[in-house]
Amino acid sequence: MLILGIETSCDETAAAVVENGTLLHSSVVASSQDMHAKYGGIIPDKAAREQLKSIIPVIHEALTLSGLQSTDYRLPPKVDAIAVTIGPGLIGSLLIGVETAKTLALAWNKPLIPINHLVGHIYANWIKSSDCEPPQFPALVLLVSGGHSDLVLMTGHGKFEPLGSTRDDAAGECFDKCGRVLGLPYPYGPFIEKAAEGVSGKQIAASNIKLPRPLSHSGDYDFSFSGLKTAFLTAHKKLGHDPSSLATSCLAYELQEAITDSLVTKTLAAAKEYKPKSIVLAGGVAANKILRQKLLASTSHLQPSVKLYIPPTKLCTDNAAYIAASAYYNNHPLPINQIEADPSLTLS
Ligand code: KG4
Ligand code: ZN
Repeated sequence: MLILGIETSCDETAAAVVENGTLLHSSVVASSQDMHAKYGGIIPDKAAREQLKSIIPVIHEALTLSGLQSTDYRLPPKVDAIAVTIGPGLIGSLLIGVETAKTLALAWNKPLIPINHLVGHIYANWIKSSDCEPPQFPALVLLVSGGHSDLVLMTGHGKFEPLGSTRDDAAGECFDKCGRVLGLPYPYGPFIEKAAEGVSGKQIAASNIKLPRPLSHSGDYDFSFSGLKTAFLTAHKKLGHDPSSLATSCLAYELQEAITDSLVTKTLAAAKEYKPKSIVLAGGVAANKILRQKLLASTSHLQPSVKLYIPPTKLCTDNAAYIAASAYYNNHPLPINQIEADPSLTLS
């Protein structure tokens, strides 16, 4: 089954074709990142306008790359269904993807499958990069993005039991807000990772910078990052108005350590209690190398052994491949008049 996925929940405009939920035929992502870098963040109105311009070319390119677009592109492509992100996200952005998908579904007479963006992220782990088996259930999912930090037990396709969540800011949000304070370029998360590279243990010890690991002994599976953000601000103020590049690097390093320690500690504790068959990492923050390394190191000693799934970096941040993959396993098409963008959708 060939599914065309469409994703426009934030500032990306993405389309992809995936076969049977696993085989990636094409994935195209256009981003207004460069424009938003000038403003230091996303301006929803501007993001939506850019998406409106790029949605049709992006879909056309994904279909062409997968060899499914007829030369006469008024003719329907050879896909079996269309899947679209309906939320959560920015309303103006979501509407562009949803309304385009509805129009194409009607014009091409294809079923339309509405997809929750958060569920979509998780299915990046079903797209095959090798011959390895897909994740087995129950799967413990750590979903960490710009707006969400959730630990969830996935008991089957589309079945989620929440274990814990952030009580305030999301992990990605903490990376972003602190990156902005450091004067790093947008998007901040990957630049914090870059700034922290090459910092030695000696330099960190000499810097005296130590940030808290909030809720690490709370006995539940919740996260909290707003106190960490405040501690970061205080540490940054102590360094004065013009911190040297070494001080900036040390702060970035310690922030990354604190966020990833919090995420890994809770994931490991949940794995010990729930004994899942697999552990699945998802969301934009899953692109972070230190998080990937720590999770790999800490889960490799679990008994009984648990297989860890981490998507390739380009499938962690927003794209339409996981939307198409997710639709194959959660194939519930709806009539177009019942499909609506919902910016506040949650996982369960
Ligand atoms: O999933 P995503 O692409 O969009 C949302 O659905 O929110 O996640 C974006 C988040 C941003 O907060 C971004 O800073 C963070 O993921 N991120 C990273 C890295 N790459 C993206 N955070 C830390 N390290 C990275 N390498
Ligand atoms: Zn996302």
